[in-house]
Amino acid sequence: MFRVRDQTMTISLAPFVPSQQDVVKKMLELAQVNDRDIVFDLGCGDGRILITAVKEFNAKKAVGYEMRDDLYKNTTLKIHKEQLETRIEVFNEDLLNANISDATVITLYLTTSGNSRLKPKLSMEAQKGAKVVSHDFDIVGWDYTKRENFGGHTIYLYMIPNAFSTPRRKRRLSLFSRKRNRN
Ligand SMILES: C[S@@+](CC[C@H](N)C(=O)[O-])C[C@H]1O[C@@H](n2cnc3c(N)ncnc32)[C@H](O)[C@@H]1O
Repeated sequence: MFRVRDQTMTISLAPFVPSQQDVVKKMLELAQVNDRDIVFDLGCGDGRILITAVKEFNAKKAVGYEMRDDLYKNTTLKIHKEQLETRIEVFNEDLLNANISDATVITLYLTTSGNSRLKPKLSMEAQKGAKVVSHDFDIVGWDYTKRENFGGHTIYLYMIPNAFSTPRRKRRLSLFSRKRNRN
């Protein structure tokens, strides 16, 4: 059954623009998603990341949050058609209210400002060892572990808590050595 969202105060952190399927796969590959992972897509659109994580990467579970009622309903129907209800859960709710404590991988395709709004929640609530993969938009002030350019897109991989807990000087040095290794 559809659960209807409290429509009051949800602020859109990005318009609906689906990630291309090859980018979806690249994101999940970069996070090395496997059968022990619980993948959260915050702003899950039409559910393609959730479905790919479970069907092609054998993720244990996938959880999505989507504010738009039409997208939420379509995604729920798709999941039902694919008989994946036991492994994929979708909430028609504000992603800023998501319970992300179980997530081992969190995927994002928002905006720079959307990521900035989400950043305090990620640092407070995501578990140690969780990976955050962001399509095209970095998380300002965080250090990525990997950045990959792929067919005109950029994918950033962050590790919790290393992305924000390494002392500034160490972070600068590791950025410097990453740049030097690239040259
Ligand atoms: C750029 S799309 C990405 C869709 C999907 N993650 C993908 O990569 O294909 C961003 C999605 O986030 C949803 N969204 C934006 N702000 C939201 C919020 N505060 N709570 C829940 N969903 C939100 C939008 O409706 C849209 O479907």
